[in-house]
Amino acid sequence: MNGSISKNRSLLTEVISGLPSNLGCDVLVCAPAPYLLQCEGILNGTAIQLGAQDVSMHSNGAYTGEISATMLSDCGCAYVIIGHSERRAYHSETDVIVAQKVLKVLEAGLTPIVCVGETLEQRETGQTNMIVAAQLQAVLDVVDIDRLDKLVIAYEPVWAIGTGKTATPQMAQDVHEFLRGQIALNDEMVSRKVRIIYGGSMKPENAGELLAMKDIDGGLIGGAALMSVDFLKIIAAAR
Ligand code: PGA
Repeated sequence: MNGSISKNRSLLTEVISGLPSNLGCDVLVCAPAPYLLQCEGILNGTAIQLGAQDVSMHSNGAYTGEISATMLSDCGCAYVIIGHSERRAYHSETDVIVAQKVLKVLEAGLTPIVCVGETLEQRETGQTNMIVAAQLQAVLDVVDIDRLDKLVIAYEPVWAIGTGKTATPQMAQDVHEFLRGQIALNDEMVSRKVRIIYGGSMKPENAGELLAMKDIDGGLIGGAALMSVDFLKIIAAAR
């Protein structure tokens, strides 16, 4: 819940003008819903794609305040973040709700970015793999095998989000490898294609090391994306 019409304009203009001409990676900006059309107008014709931060689990109709996947598509979104830990923690989003949202997003032709991750207590009690496996499995259970490669998975340890604490590259790699292995149980080929990105205090100082790990295919950047200089440095590290 960051941004304003004027801040969005200056941030995106700075990022666009700092982008290398040959991008070499996919870059997208997931904006708060009221600003999607503004951002679409600014990003249109650039190499940066647009995404949303949440979506309704319903298709349309009497769900006042909700925003459907088709509405997001209509506003120019190509991606939607689903099941961010803040949605799970503050808005009671269960694995079942997350899975329903994924289905709606796929039906609308958008790419879901499904967030999974453990709390500090779960990590310290050795439950990390069990937690992320259950969060992932709820989604794998409902998505047809031929659409599995449309998913992006974001591993976001809850204790690392917005805290300045980052998982070490090896800690993140271990979970990414585990998640890829879980997908391989369903489809080996897809598991090699699916992008598994890391989120949680990724910043210019640690992006290179994290992105160099074998199973870390990208980043979901929160705080560091609010400063164009930092976001551009992370993009450079991802190329
Ligand atoms: P952070 O946020 O980069 O500020 O930790 C990540 C996120 O919100 O997913």
